Amino acid sequence: LNTTQLQEGLRVAIDAQKRSYSPYSSFAVGAALKCKDKDLWVPGCNVENASYGGTICAERIAVFNAISAHDCRQFEAIVLVTKTKAGDLPCAFCLQVLSEFVDADFPVYSANQKEIVKQYKFSELLPHPFDKTNLEGV
Ligand code: THU
Repeated sequence: LNTTQLQEGLRVAIDAQKRSYSPYSSFAVGAALKCKDKDLWVPGCNVENASYGGTICAERIAVFNAISAHDCRQFEAIVLVTKTKAGDLPCAFCLQVLSEFVDADFPVYSANQKEIVKQYKFSELLPHPFDKTNLEGV
């Protein structure tokens, strides 16, 4: 992805962050997931619940949104935005969910309110996901 595309991803993530429903943590998160072969960044924001456990992170919402609303299951990159200056990274639940749809070299970008501050490849964050093929033949 080029700089212009990444800037667009950051814009979509910041826009989604504004829609975050996070009255319990006050920690608004925005995500933008780039669909392969489409000029489309799919947004996600965290949606919290009074049960706490019912909360879903911005990254998973973006995945579910891409699949359910855009028929997109192949992704090129994700941009994650929080208020943290040094940037945050996806939690392990979100990495596990992403692992079904992305390659080891899938880029994960972390941004603050201004700019992208970190970049990792997926396998650095979750080198050994639970493998769905383990379920075959059970
Ligand atoms: N959260 C995300 O949306 N993404 C992450 O990667 C980490 C955490 C949300 C969940 C909860 O609404 C709030 O941030 C505080 O944990």
